[in-house]
Amino acid sequence: MRKVFVIGIGAGNPDYITVQAINALNQVDVFFIIDKGQEKDDLIRLRKDICERYIKNKSYRMVEALDPPRDRTPASYESTVRAWHDERADIYERLIREELGDDGCGAFLVWGDPSLYDSTLRIIDQIVARGTVAFDYEVIPGISAIQALAARHRIALNRIGRSIHITTGRKVAEGLPDDADDVVVMLDGDCAFKAIDDPAIDIYWGAYLGTEDEILMAGQLPERAAEIERVRADAKARKGWVMDTYLLRRRGG
Ligand SMILES: C[S@@+](CC[C@H](N)C(=O)[O-])C[C@H]1O[C@@H](n2cnc3c(N)ncnc32)[C@H](O)[C@@H]1O
Repeated sequence: MRKVFVIGIGAGNPDYITVQAINALNQVDVFFIIDKGQEKDDLIRLRKDICERYIKNKSYRMVEALDPPRDRTPASYESTVRAWHDERADIYERLIREELGDDGCGAFLVWGDPSLYDSTLRIIDQIVARGTVAFDYEVIPGISAIQALAARHRIALNRIGRSIHITTGRKVAEGLPDDADDVVVMLDGDCAFKAIDDPAIDIYWGAYLGTEDEILMAGQLPERAAEIERVRADAKARKGWVMDTYLLRRRGG
């Protein structure tokens, strides 16, 4: 039976790799590297560095595939993303069928943790549902950008007995949830926080967490928003890409 690992590699620091991930890496014959363009050369390099550093037997192969292009301003967000996932499922299915022998072991190395804003597991489910190639699969958790953010700011994400809301910049642009005092925001290309003019909210912001380019900023949101936006824009101009995550915390909880 073919085997596929979906391995969380942490959100930027090679030291975030777990022992379980290292054990899995060492069983893999073929790594499937999906090239997502733009920012992603650095992220592909990190994946390769991780393999170099942690795998003892260097007989593994890397197979690269291009991610299908995606419409970033679609009329219907969900149906466009679904169509894009179908195309990706075709590619992943071909990789598993054609690149792995009958008893071969493959792996997708997922940034951060596979359970958070990553489509790999949904795509694998789709391939399993098609029933066109038989394989077993296992998920190895990783340290997400959210955990890295909390650790670097030395904060707990929840207040005692309270909830945490995890969402995207797109959703925050529609308004903060009424019933959440602690909101973690990912995938925000437009600094949605800048539209929230509430002095009772603090922001804990981090970019390139875990990497040598890491930037951390925190403080009262209306006071810090413009500066964070500027720092983010400068960093993006310098490096060509930026990934940032932040916590919005209503004071007094
Ligand atoms: C497609 S999601 C992947 C999340 C990933 N699975 C995780 O567990 O962190 C990409 C988003 O994760 C966040 N992110 C990932 N790595 C990051 C890093 N090193 N520093 C800051 N934010 C990061 C950003 O919000 C980015 O837009």
